[in-house]
Amino acid sequence: MEVKTSLLDNMIGVGDMVLIEPLSEDTFIENLKKRFDHNEIYTYIGSVVISMNPYKSLPIYTAEKVEEYRNRNFYELSPHVYALADEAYRSLREQDKDQCILITGESGAGKTEASKFVMSYVAAVCGKGQEVNKVKEQLLQSNPVLEAFGNAKTVRNDNSSRFGKYMDIEFDFKGDPLGGAISNYLLEKSRVVKQPRGERNFHIFYQLLSGASDDTLKKLKLDRDFSKYNYLSLDSATVNGLDDAASFRTVRNAMQIVGFMEDEVQSILELVAAVLKLGNIEFKPESRCNGYDESRVKDKNDLKEMCELLGIEQSVLERAFSFRTVEAKMEKMSTTLNVAQAYYARDALAKNLYSRLFSWLVNRINESIKAQTKSRKKVMGVLDIYGFEIFEDNSFEQFIINYCNEKLQQIFIELTLREEQEEYVREGIEWTNIEYFNNAIICDLIENNKNGILAMLDEECLRPGTVTDETFLDKLNTVCAEHQHFESRQSKNSKFLTDHSLPHNCFRIQHYAGKVLYRVEGFVDKNNDLLYRDLSQAMYKANHSLIKILFPEGNPAKVNLKRPPTAGFQFKASVGTLMKNLLSKNPNYIRCIKPNDKKAAHIFTDSLVCHQVRYLGLMENVRVRRAGYAFRQAYEPCLERYKMLCKQTWPHWKGPARGGVEVLLTDLQVPAEEFAYGRSKIFIRNPRTLFFLEEKRRQCLEDLATLIQKIYRGWKSRTHFLLLKKSQVVVAAWYRRFAQQKKYQNIRSSALVFQSFIRGWKARKLLRELKHKKRCEKAVSTISAYWHGTQARRELKRLKEEARRKHAVAVIWAYWLGLKVRREYRKFFRANAGKKIYDFTIQRIMQKYFLGLKKMPSMSPVDKSWPARPYGFLDGTHQELRRIFHLWRCKKYRSQFTEEKKATYEEKLAASELFKDKKALYPSSVGQPFKGDYVEMTKNPKYQKLNSFVEDKVLVADVVSKINRANGKGAPRIFLLTKKSLVLADQKTGQVKASVPLPDLSSVSVSTQNDGFFALKLKEGSTSAAKGDFLLSSDRLIEIITKLHCIGATSADRNKINIDISDEFLVQFKQDKVCVKFIQGTPKNGNGVACKRKNNRLLEVSVPSP
Ligand SMILES: Nc1ncnc2c1ncn2[C@@H]1O[C@H](COP(=O)(O)OP(=O)(O)OP(=O)(O)O)[C@@H](O)[C@H]1O
Ligand SMILES: [Mg+2]
Repeated sequence: MEVKTSLLDNMIGVGDMVLIEPLSEDTFIENLKKRFDHNEIYTYIGSVVISMNPYKSLPIYTAEKVEEYRNRNFYELSPHVYALADEAYRSLREQDKDQCILITGESGAGKTEASKFVMSYVAAVCGKGQEVNKVKEQLLQSNPVLEAFGNAKTVRNDNSSRFGKYMDIEFDFKGDPLGGAISNYLLEKSRVVKQPRGERNFHIFYQLLSGASDDTLKKLKLDRDFSKYNYLSLDSATVNGLDDAASFRTVRNAMQIVGFMEDEVQSILELVAAVLKLGNIEFKPESRCNGYDESRVKDKNDLKEMCELLGIEQSVLERAFSFRTVEAKMEKMSTTLNVAQAYYARDALAKNLYSRLFSWLVNRINESIKAQTKSRKKVMGVLDIYGFEIFEDNSFEQFIINYCNEKLQQIFIELTLREEQEEYVREGIEWTNIEYFNNAIICDLIENNKNGILAMLDEECLRPGTVTDETFLDKLNTVCAEHQHFESRQSKNSKFLTDHSLPHNCFRIQHYAGKVLYRVEGFVDKNNDLLYRDLSQAMYKANHSLIKILFPEGNPAKVNLKRPPTAGFQFKASVGTLMKNLLSKNPNYIRCIKPNDKKAAHIFTDSLVCHQVRYLGLMENVRVRRAGYAFRQAYEPCLERYKMLCKQTWPHWKGPARGGVEVLLTDLQVPAEEFAYGRSKIFIRNPRTLFFLEEKRRQCLEDLATLIQKIYRGWKSRTHFLLLKKSQVVVAAWYRRFAQQKKYQNIRSSALVFQSFIRGWKARKLLRELKHKKRCEKAVSTISAYWHGTQARRELKRLKEEARRKHAVAVIWAYWLGLKVRREYRKFFRANAGKKIYDFTIQRIMQKYFLGLKKMPSMSPVDKSWPARPYGFLDGTHQELRRIFHLWRCKKYRSQFTEEKKATYEEKLAASELFKDKKALYPSSVGQPFKGDYVEMTKNPKYQKLNSFVEDKVLVADVVSKINRANGKGAPRIFLLTKKSLVLADQKTGQVKASVPLPDLSSVSVSTQNDGFFALKLKEGSTSAAKGDFLLSSDRLIEIITKLHCIGATSADRNKINIDISDEFLVQFKQDKVCVKFIQGTPKNGNGVACKRKNNRLLEVSVPSP
């Protein structure tokens, strides 16, 4: 994209009219035309923007454009309304200056569009955020609503604003929008009831009928057909390029965004419908008895529907159209209205209804968009007022509109010139005042409080008596006749001038923008703006919230007999306030120009533009601007722009910018009268000089471009070369490194191979040597070993030979000696040598025998092993030694015994002495230990009594069989033996059967057999003997008898108990002696011992043979 740094770049014509050369109306128009043809619709006069209406959409209002103009200096880019908006917004935000944007121009010149561009630009560049965006949206959306109700199609503009609008946008210190306030000025309400040919009523009527749904229309009792409504002109009901239905949707949407409630919208539409209905009410005359005509409503249907819409009682309204109540001096009088008056009343009501609705709308929007904060605000005002109008038939409205434009022109002239002059003074530049047309005189003609036209009109309206538009014109003719800008037929006549273009009922004012002929008809009425009180009271009574608010004067409780201020007075006051407001702000001007009357693109009507240029005073504007100096610029940007034209300032100037500009201009030999140095700006008198500078700059830029190109190319090639060189060095370095690495690796691996070979060879060589050496050493040692072996063997052989020889010699010698000795001593030797040799031999044998006994047999007394006898003559010794050894080891064994064990062995020994080899039962008892107690009496509770019976220690307690002598069968008895007695007791009960003191016992008889029978024989005559002897049987016979025997042996006072061992013995049973005989045999009942009584004297016991 091409980047501009000045409006002077790529200029079409000149962007700033101040630079035009030569300055004339023609060149001015020519420049405008040239730019217009190239779609350059904006041109500057200094800081004023001239805007030509292109009548076609141009791609210059895009978001990109907004960004392009954002934060750029005014003259930096080609002229644009955005540049002005940006300048104003930045000055507001950064310099805290309240701004106003004054948009002027005639109807259709593009004021409203320009105001919308300004607003949308500001909305786009100011802060963002949810709340801020809502405010922006509401501010922007207020436009479609107001345009629908306040704009209409006129012959000059399809979307002509029929009201003046001034909107204050309020910002906070950061420049974020807070809200806004709209002031509206005098709606052209006459349009509601009547529109000039080729024009339309306000858009909303058409939009409602085209865009509302059938349902809505039904509710509003409306018909879609325009022709059904008297107030809607039909010749321009539809406008090319305007889609009323779509606009209606836009308006409804906008109303919603702005914050209108659904019921509010409904009420508004009801009022609009009511106005349409009102227009359809027609009247007919009805003669009264007093001869006057009285008006009556012709067809009451529309009236009825209208009353239903607004909730008004039909009769009340009907009466208000027929009668008029006049109150004077506390008296009420009712007069009838004729048909004309009824129509007047109807139209007045319609106009009032609509204009009051419009004002209410503005207030309602203000309520929505008003800033929520009370903190200090910065304000940007946008004034879009109806343009200067010259119609064929100009009335009160045009007079008011043109008066307003006159005032704005005055402000424009005042402020632009004052600003210009102030700048020269501020910058210390010499300045001579410039003459220009000041329209203050025209303003004075209209607004002068004493004899101004508006004052005259008010005076006339308030005057008692008959007041007509003619009387008003007469008054003007007397008061203003002398004024140079006022003309009328009469005033001309008085100067003996005839002007047929001036009708009788007209006056003409020479406005700044041209002469306008006003028809006085309707001036008084319109200024009075009267609405019969009966009508306002009827409206107040309506059961409709909005209508009630719109007609507060209808409230009977607040009847005010004072006349309301006239329309002219109100307008003058509000214009006065507006002017004050504008003067307090920094002005920014957009002067809109209409290129043709056809509302068509591409047509540039020179005469029309010329006319506008003239009355807008644009030429004067340029002249004033150029009278001093055509162009001015701060030193810094000026030096920045032209510094390349001088060697001293290019490329950098060190020092203040002013010095740089001085050096620059001197160097360029610009004549001294062509410029002046201000305090902060350079002022250039002639555009010629500026163009000279620009041309020089352009040439220089070309040179510079070539230079830059050259340097750039050089730099690029150099950089490229350096890069290549650097790359080459890097590549070479890397390659060398790589090659060296490779080489090194080769050398290294070769060295390693070489080294390994050498090492291998060396190692092998060394190994060979070592092996050789080792083999040599081994050979040497083997040889030497063999040699030593041979030597040794030889030596041994020799020694052996020698020894053998010596031995042989010795033996031979010994033998010879022995032979010699034996021969010599043979005679002595035989006498005692034999005995000595024998003793010696025996001694040697004994010695050897005893030494052989060193290893002793086992120490166990039961070990029977003993070494064999070596020589027969040692037999006795050998046996004796065995006996001695056996005794010794038995002693050793005994010495280990405890006392208890000793006693046991003693008993065993006694048993051995008693029974060994005497009784066959004995061997089987040897291995059984003598436990004594086999019954465990103490533990058995059954034998408690028996226990207590026995006092001494029980030596034997066992169960024995007591043999019955009658049948030889045994009965079990407990046998107890103590040191003093023996006791027999019942086995089951423990009851004592017999107790025999041991002294009463004489002997005990047992058999030799392998049985347990024993008889206890009692001493004859003893107390125990009375019952007779006892024949008992026990397996532990050996133990019992031995213990019995031992007790007898140990006690000194008693005789030893004899033990008889025989197979036949006698037993004394009471008186009878019975022989008990033991025989060997096989008993019938198996292997046990059986006792059988053979006869009275014999009991036979058969014992199984062993
Ligand atoms: N910058 C523009 N680009 C395109 N079309 C434009 C531009 N300015 C104006 N127009 C066209 O010109 C028409 C009239 O413009 P606008 O309504 O702004 O005039 P105005 O000066 O407000 O007139 P009035 O005084 O009657 O309200 C617009 O409806 C639009 O079609
Ligand atoms: Mg407009």
